[in-house]
Amino acid sequence: MQIVHTIADLRAALAGRGRPAFVPTMGNLHAGHLALVRQAKPLGDVMVASIFVNRLQFLPHEDFDSYPRTLQDDADKLAAAGCDVLFAPSEKDLYPEPQTFKLQPDPQLADILEGHFRPGFFTGVCTVVMKLFACVFAGGPGVAVFGKKDYQQLMVLRRMAAQFALPVQIVAGDICRADDGLALSSRNGYLGAAERAQAVQLRQALQALAAQALQPGADLAQAEAQALAALQRQGWQPDYLTVRQRSNLQPPSGALQAGTLVALAAARLGSTRLIDNLEF
Ligand code: PAF
Repeated sequence: MQIVHTIADLRAALAGRGRPAFVPTMGNLHAGHLALVRQAKPLGDVMVASIFVNRLQFLPHEDFDSYPRTLQDDADKLAAAGCDVLFAPSEKDLYPEPQTFKLQPDPQLADILEGHFRPGFFTGVCTVVMKLFACVFAGGPGVAVFGKKDYQQLMVLRRMAAQFALPVQIVAGDICRADDGLALSSRNGYLGAAERAQAVQLRQALQALAAQALQPGADLAQAEAQALAALQRQGWQPDYLTVRQRSNLQPPSGALQAGTLVALAAARLGSTRLIDNLEF
């Protein structure tokens, strides 16, 4: 696996190598990231991963400074998973001048849920992903794979790619879970032992809400309020726990139809904020 740090070196590494299959990450890789790499690999001629902790998508009080930077370990894992080229720019490499041009995503999709609790998050995500796409796909079209764990991010980036007619096919990767059902996340490493044992409650809350929502005659608002209160009683500080339409992440209108919905949650356990979702 070739490791490059600058945009110029990345473009040189990809020149003449065909369609890139790309997995962007912020590093501190776990089995979920590596599954995305394995999924992406056969979708292109050259498998490219990036590691870049993107300051633009962190709020001032969030964990940008403490976000684990584990480049050597990540590079070993990526090489073993079949990655051909790792793009690991420094901030100066990716943003040689301050990134004053930013991408403003559709507020209907990006200012709800995560975007409501983390204002500017999707502007930061879209801006860096657009820039990474400009670096990786400069030589021609390809594929990028994003995990469904960041469900709203996947939808926002899909819309971005479609509306700007980007030469990038966006592919979704399934959520990887630990044996107890906790969605794999780089932030799980922040959990203490007792919190880690408790963390699966977030998924259980989503499962309970989905089951409740599909009961005949269910009152969705009431089911959401009950699920939120139950999570609070277990010691979580939830930001949201809600059922939305998969198509646009808006609240469902009319009768709830199984197979069209997704339950999404974000909640803090101690000082660690976790997100998860469940399609149903
Ligand atoms: O999902 C992530 O790790 C990040 O949001 C991404 C897509 C790499 C952009 O920084």
